[in-house]
Amino acid sequence: MGSGASLIDNQPLAARIIEATKKGAGNLPVSVKTRIGVKQVVTENWVRFLLEQDLAALTVHGRTAAQLSLVPADWREIQKAVEVRNQMKSSTLIIGNGDVESRSQAELLVKECGVDGVMIGRGVLSNPWVFEKQSRDHTKQEKLQILLEHVRLYEDTWQGAKPFINLRKYFKIYAKGFRGAGELREELMKMTDIKQVEELIASE
Ligand SMILES: Cc1cc2nc3c(=O)[nH]c(=O)nc-3n(C[C@H](O)[C@H](O)[C@H](O)COP(=O)(O)O)c2cc1C
Repeated sequence: MGSGASLIDNQPLAARIIEATKKGAGNLPVSVKTRIGVKQVVTENWVRFLLEQDLAALTVHGRTAAQLSLVPADWREIQKAVEVRNQMKSSTLIIGNGDVESRSQAELLVKECGVDGVMIGRGVLSNPWVFEKQSRDHTKQEKLQILLEHVRLYEDTWQGAKPFINLRKYFKIYAKGFRGAGELREELMKMTDIKQVEELIASE
């Protein structure tokens, strides 16, 4: 209670958290990622307050907390954040976030809304190559190799501290868009360790 997006309605506490973070970070740049309101859209007032905290970057997700991900992100509000930043002559970078599914869409939004950058979340879960400059189709082997890399990185990172089955939800990102992908997905969902995944992929 009171954390995350709720801080939008509690500027004094948000200011204290940002100040403490900056103090702890020393010379490291500090950025904030935020939605545009809790229940009501309050972009202008909230962004102005955040920019007064002198941040290196501010990422704006164009939805209120109450909206969850149920409505399209409002990029006009993100553009408004850029306008506030420009009016204030602030040097904080503004990064837009919400519903971006391709690099070309991101580039268009940079042009249209004046953001300094774009953050992509779920887009990478449907296309792991979403950041590539020249988008192209990827072969089954490329998809399976990157699946393997994901599994290995997970194992290296967590070293058993997190269960292997947490990975299952990611298999569909890679095992799709080629003949036999559905069957392979079914097989992958039965896997209980990395060795089984390696063997399965080697047999494909
Ligand atoms: C699985 C998942 C986990 C997320 N975790 C966080 C988080 O820890 N902190 C955060 O600020 N946003 C988190 N988000 C929200 C995203 O960063 C992003 O703001 C939101 O998904 C909208 O962007 P998108 O349309 O590009 O996905 C998460 C989203 C997803 C789908």
